[in-house]
Amino acid sequence: MRTRPLKVALLGCGVVGSEVARIMTTHADDLAARIGAPVELAGVAVRRPSKVREGIDPALVTTDATALVERGDIDVVIEVIGGIEPARTLITTAFEHGTSVVSANKALLAQDGPALHAAAERHGRDLYYEAAVAGAIPLVRPLRESLAGDKVNRVLGIVNGTTNFILDRMDTSGAGYSEALDEATALGYAEADPTADVEGFDAAAKAAILAGIAFHTRVGIGEVHREGITEVTAADIASARRMGCTVKLLAICERAADGRSVTARVHPAMIPLSHPLASVREAYNAVFVEAEAAGQLMFYGPGAGGSPTASAVLGDLVAVCRNKLGETTGPGESAYTRLPVSPMGEVVTRYHISLDVADKPGVLAQVATVFAESGVSIDTVRQQSRQDPDGEASLVVVTHRAPDAALSGTVEALRKLDTVRGVASIMRVEGE
Ligand code: NDP
Ligand code: HSE
Repeated sequence: MRTRPLKVALLGCGVVGSEVARIMTTHADDLAARIGAPVELAGVAVRRPSKVREGIDPALVTTDATALVERGDIDVVIEVIGGIEPARTLITTAFEHGTSVVSANKALLAQDGPALHAAAERHGRDLYYEAAVAGAIPLVRPLRESLAGDKVNRVLGIVNGTTNFILDRMDTSGAGYSEALDEATALGYAEADPTADVEGFDAAAKAAILAGIAFHTRVGIGEVHREGITEVTAADIASARRMGCTVKLLAICERAADGRSVTARVHPAMIPLSHPLASVREAYNAVFVEAEAAGQLMFYGPGAGGSPTASAVLGDLVAVCRNKLGETTGPGESAYTRLPVSPMGEVVTRYHISLDVADKPGVLAQVATVFAESGVSIDTVRQQSRQDPDGEASLVVVTHRAPDAALSGTVEALRKLDTVRGVASIMRVEGE
C-alpha cells in the first residue's frame, strides 16, 4: 500500500459534507485498505468559518474555496456546496488543475452536465456523482456501468423524499397538503423554502440526469415536463383510494416504442396499491429500471439525509482514488445516441378525471361524446348523485391510454360543456 496519502478538498461541510468528513475520519483505515493508499482531508471550504464543526480540525477550514482547489497538491475535490455558482466554477477549476471531482449536485449536473463532462475529459479526469440521484441508492453506477451492455427502455421512480413524505402523510392520515407540508418541515424532511422539492424541480433535475445516462443521450432540464404536488388535494388522495390506488410524485423517463426519441417527465400520478412503488413510505426513494435483456430491476432505499448521501459520495471517492492510483479514469459521458426529447403531448398515458356535472338526463352521453370526438377511449365511469340543492353529481372517468395532448384536449372540451360545472381534479394513472 502506498503510504503517501491522497489529498481531498471538501467543498461544503453542511448536512452532507459534515458526514463525509466524519466517515472519512472514522473509517480511515478501511478506506485506505480499499483504495490502496490513505486519504487525507486537506482542506474544508465553508461560508461561515466560525461555526463549530465537530470532528473537523479548525486549521483545515477556509472560506477561500478557490485557493483550496488551486493549491496544486489536491488529488480529489468533493463538491457538496450545492447550487450553480460557485460550484460550477470550482469544479471547472479543479479539472484545470488536474483534479478529479466527486459531486452530489443534481441541480448543476442537470443544467451543465455536458460541459462539466467535457471539461473532465479534456483534462483526463473523473467526474462522479452517484449522490446526485436518490441519495444512498446505487443507481448512477448501475446505469453507467452494470447496464452498459443492455438497452434500458424505461426508468420510473420516486426520486424525491420530501414529496414522498408529504404524499404518504396525506394518504395515511387524510391530512391536506399544507398540514402534511408543515409536518414535513417540523420533522426536518422539508427545507424552510420547500419550492425545489414540492414544485418538482429537484425530481426534474434527477430525471434529466437519469434519462441522459439510461438512454445515452442528452436531456436538458428544460426538456423535462414538470408538475409538482402543490395542487394535490385530500380529495384526490381519497379518490385514488377508492380506485385501489395511491398518489406518488413520479419521475418517468421512457424510450419511444420506435426507439427514435425519448421523454422525461415528473408529475403526481395514481398508482395501484399492488404496485411496488405504492409501498414506498415516508422519505424513501425507489426506482424501477426496465431493460431489454435484464427485465425489471428495482432500487430502493434512503434518498436523502447526511449519512446516506455521504455513503454514495464516499463510494465515488474510493472509485476516483483507485482510478488515480491506476492512472486511469472511469466512464465519462455517453451521449452518442443524440435522441430527440419529445414533448409531453406525445407521451402516452391515462387520466383520472373527476367532474362536477349537472345531474340530469343526457349528461353522461354528452361527456362520452367529448371523449369519443377526441379519440380517447373510456375505461371506467363512476357517477354519484350528491342530492344537493344544485342538482349536481360527481362523475369520475378513467381513460384508457392515449397521447397526453388528446387527454388534455378532452379536458378542455369538457370544461366548455354547460353541463360540466367544474373539473374537480385531473391526475394521470401509471404503473399498470
Ligand atoms: P447544506 O446547505 O447543508 O451545506 C452546504 C455547505 O456549503 C455548507 O457547509 C456551506 O457553508 C457551504 N457553502 C455554501 N456556500 C459556499 C461558498 N460560496 N463557499 C464555500 N462553501 C460554501 O447542503 P447539503 O449538504 O444538504 O447539500 C449539499 C449538496 O448535496 C447539494 O448539491 C445537494 O443537492 C446535495 N444532496 C443533498 C442531500 C441531502 O439530503 N441534504 C441528498 C442528496 C444530494 P456553511 O456551513 O458555512 O454554511
Ligand atoms: N430534497 C431532496 C429530497 C434531497 O427530498 O429528496 C435529496 O436529493
